Amino acid sequence: MTVTPLQIRSRLGDYAVEFVDGGAWAQELAVMEYTFVVVDENVWRLHADGVLAPLRDAAPVVLPISEDAKVYAAVAELYDLVAARAAKRNCVVVSIGGGITQDVTGYLASTLYRGVRWVYAPTTLLAMADSCIGGKTSLNHGAHKNLIGTMYPPERVLVHALFVGTLSDEDYFSGLGEVVKLHLLGGEGAVDELREALPALLAREPGAVRGATRASLLIKRAYIEEDEFDRGRRNLLNYGHCFGHALETATGFAVPHGQAVIIGMLLAGAVARRRGLLAAAEERRRRVQLLLPVLLDRPLPDETAVTRVVEAMKYDKKRTGEGLALVMVGDGLQAVQIADLGEDEVRDALAELPELYQT
Ligand SMILES: NC(=O)c1ccc[n+]([C@@H]2O[C@H](COP(=O)([O-])OP(=O)(O)OC[C@H]3O[C@@H](n4cnc5c(N)ncnc54)[C@H](O)[C@@H]3O)[C@@H](O)[C@H]2O)c1
Repeated sequence: MTVTPLQIRSRLGDYAVEFVDGGAWAQELAVMEYTFVVVDENVWRLHADGVLAPLRDAAPVVLPISEDAKVYAAVAELYDLVAARAAKRNCVVVSIGGGITQDVTGYLASTLYRGVRWVYAPTTLLAMADSCIGGKTSLNHGAHKNLIGTMYPPERVLVHALFVGTLSDEDYFSGLGEVVKLHLLGGEGAVDELREALPALLAREPGAVRGATRASLLIKRAYIEEDEFDRGRRNLLNYGHCFGHALETATGFAVPHGQAVIIGMLLAGAVARRRGLLAAAEERRRRVQLLLPVLLDRPLPDETAVTRVVEAMKYDKKRTGEGLALVMVGDGLQAVQIADLGEDEVRDALAELPELYQT
């Protein structure tokens, strides 16, 4: 099935997201000159004898994957490997993996000789439907997540939707969290399409994955093209992340990212309702039809977790004003960012969580 590529405009160089099928794309990468191929260790284990077999001859570097490995030392090892090979300034970094691979290799590509060519094939739903565009690369440093980074989009993104077939439920549902978030920021048409596609998407049907990925990227594109360097409208993509990040921090990252984003959207909906920005019936409809179906685990924060969530929100790096920051999607799917969220509102929303989990 042919899916029209998406063109992304960027002040750092325009690029395209191509939807690929079969194995021809891997063959094409394998015969490219001067490539430096880096593949996520699990993706290599699962697909080296399948779709990635043509890349065996390209001497791929197999990248260990964990948040602890998303650090400068990992990039430094890759610099050594590049330096040991004949191709230098003209090398093309080809990376295949999820967001961690993207962040490490994007940073590598952006700093190597002040920027070399970079082709990226995302293999998680999160990376396909969200992180592969926007141009951010990030590394963790000490206890600080994504402290270091650059802006550097790949020159080509190749989406092979079948990769999601081997993802764990946790990682697949994590991606779904971002897919739902983007559709809720995309207006009535996008929400209706998602509602219809959700059963097929939950069953990982490739057509549905491709469709929801392309739709998510189209919505994100509108935000990033208008505000590439994150100075205004792009902040709205933080929907679900204000509470979500705080929940991740408060639980020591026990709640997977996309799940935290879903819970964040549930809580943002409760705040919006309490502020009179979102009708109770609409809040419930979104919750029951779109949010709860993609929530795998439903951990209930206890009293100490609630305190930690409030603390974490106070230190959110995206905070700008005196109060706490929150993005909400109100009636008519209007997204707004406020900077005057009170601690009492946070506590009230968290206290409501058991009811928010009810269908
Ligand atoms: N640069 C950005 O714009 C951006 C945006 C959002 C998130 N991120 C970062 O992305 C990271 C999360 O990325 P992610 O959720 O895509 O996943 P990931 O890269 O953390 O991978 C998750 C797990 O899935 C495995 N995996 C990857 N593809 C697979 C496949 N097809 N089959 C089986 N297993 C597979 C990995 O080995 C890993 O164990 C975080 O570090 C986050 O900070 C970056």
